[in-house]
Amino acid sequence: MRVLFVCSGNTCRSPLAEAVLRRERPGWQVASAGVGAAPGAPATAAAMRAAARRGLDLTGHRSRRVGEEDLRAADVCLTMTEGQRAALAERYPALAGRVLTLADAAGEEGDVEDPYGGDDEAYDRTLDRIERWVEAAAAHLSQPAPLGRVVAAGADHAGRRLKDLVCAHLRGAGFRVEDAGTHGDASCDYPDFARPVARAVASGRVGWGVLVCGTGLGMAIAANKVRGVRAVSVSETVGARLARAHNDANVLCLGGRIVGDEVALAAVREFAATPWEGGRHAARLAKVAALEAEACGGGEGA
Ligand code: RB5
Repeated sequence: MRVLFVCSGNTCRSPLAEAVLRRERPGWQVASAGVGAAPGAPATAAAMRAAARRGLDLTGHRSRRVGEEDLRAADVCLTMTEGQRAALAERYPALAGRVLTLADAAGEEGDVEDPYGGDDEAYDRTLDRIERWVEAAAAHLSQPAPLGRVVAAGADHAGRRLKDLVCAHLRGAGFRVEDAGTHGDASCDYPDFARPVARAVASGRVGWGVLVCGTGLGMAIAANKVRGVRAVSVSETVGARLARAHNDANVLCLGGRIVGDEVALAAVREFAATPWEGGRHAARLAKVAALEAEACGGGEGA
């Protein structure tokens, strides 16, 4: 696992998080950088003192500015704040699917605030939060997630309740979920929610999608109109697993009026954790892609 921590100046929060994760997971490749860092600066004196009080050593640290290559070299990039996540997502939209806040990855909410200017107690409180969240994030990141940890979700009125349950479940398991709605009970049309989710998946901005309508069927039909999307509707866990293993499906559709909550959540877990097998399935998916190219012509997908 390759993890990149990002804060603003790369002289306090992200080096602290880096040091904590190196201690927790010695076999992982861990690095840190800053969205606005001046290169070559040491960690701040207060950050070094806070680290030393926990037996961590930041004396050799030198700041770096984050670049596209850093993101490409990481399996996941964890920012200290939502603002830093949004800045990276805007700067590198095609790589946004691998950028989460540390809170996302930990299944928590909020930012790791900058303690700059505070006393030693303020730094200790910041490091407390970093330690707790990095430990939780490490536990989540140890679970397989071959499609990545950034998910888009959507539903119509018939799927909204189950979609909300799935979103909460995924967030608690350390996924970042972009919820495209719907958010109420008013009757609405499933293609209006399939569209943004399918397009987010096709663009690479998110790793995969979950769509819920009454049956899961209309969502799958609509999502599959977007080039690059392989959406499946499933009502049990074997289908969810095989859709990933054989078909490299990237959007899971569920029927809120068909499938029970526990089975739906188990299907989501199977889908999220199963890698594509490749091998004999690669030639078949190449033929599916060729069909899609024939149907769509050479241009951009919908
Ligand atoms: C809405 O009544 C229902 O038709 C829709 O949620 C979905 O099941 C369509 O496939």
